[in-house]
Amino acid sequence: GWARSVSPGFLPVLAAGCAGPQSAFDGAGTEAASVETLFWIMLAGAVVIWLLVIGLSVYATRANPAAHSEATGIRLIIWGGAVVPTIVLAALLVWGLAMMPDLRREADGPKIAVSGERFWWRIAYGIEGEPGVAKSLPAGGVESANELWLPVGRRSEILLGSPDVIHSFWVPAIAGKTDAIPGRVNRLVLEPTREGVYNGVCAEFCGDAHAQMGFRVVVVSEADYARYVEIQARPAAVTEGEGAARFLERGCGACHTVRGTPADGAVGPDLTHIASRRTIGAGLLETTPANIAAFIRSPTHVKPGAEMPAFAMLPEAEITAIADWLGALR
Ligand code: CUA
Repeated sequence: GWARSVSPGFLPVLAAGCAGPQSAFDGAGTEAASVETLFWIMLAGAVVIWLLVIGLSVYATRANPAAHSEATGIRLIIWGGAVVPTIVLAALLVWGLAMMPDLRREADGPKIAVSGERFWWRIAYGIEGEPGVAKSLPAGGVESANELWLPVGRRSEILLGSPDVIHSFWVPAIAGKTDAIPGRVNRLVLEPTREGVYNGVCAEFCGDAHAQMGFRVVVVSEADYARYVEIQARPAAVTEGEGAARFLERGCGACHTVRGTPADGAVGPDLTHIASRRTIGAGLLETTPANIAAFIRSPTHVKPGAEMPAFAMLPEAEITAIADWLGALR
């Protein structure tokens, strides 16, 4: 029977699902920690109520109605149906509200703009003033994509926006989700407490590739964060050669920027330091020249719904040259 096929051996497998880079149960941020505590308290309360309801149901099927007065029944309904739930729910509400000021704390770290766009994340470090909301969010600053670096122990301010539809920014291990909405700027304070690499996702259905709209969050020391932003601010390491020439000739620069070259498109991700990122396609594939070439040939083959057009009609030698060049832009 099922009891034998579902051996206790499956328990570690279940528990393993609670750890890892995308788990709210393996918190690496202050907000995730308070969400986790709230979850366990609510789970405990739900278990107690569930046991009570099941216990009373079992009792009701066996009890002899003649042995109970109507007054007992009415008392049970008043206490079990109104008084106790009111006390429990009021306590949870008060506790939840008390938690909120903590989640709206002032930032003391860097200000970073993050724009959810179909189907990737535009990220800008070191923005000045308020970001614009008209088209895409960042106001100046150093652009990157799909990989958000944060200094550990600091409260970084994330300014969220979108040029197209509503997306939702969620890094389960660090903080709860916040929507990225066209025409407005939402603020979110992230306070990571442990260095490491975490997964983020888009948590609002936004189109074909919604499920493939991921990103990485890299939490490092403050010194490493400063060094990272300083390196990202530099122009591309290699700006000439076969790959760069083909990239420009084929018009890739109409959508992509590679700083240090004439390519200054703003539609797609900034590729100036693409090889320094762990993934391409918004968390989808490891950044290697072979994967970049596959993406150029047919983005939708790699990522259904991707908005970049396919370039399979280019000679294979050109695709390889472009992918090799991009794959060297660290
Ligand atoms: Cu973006 Cu779902």
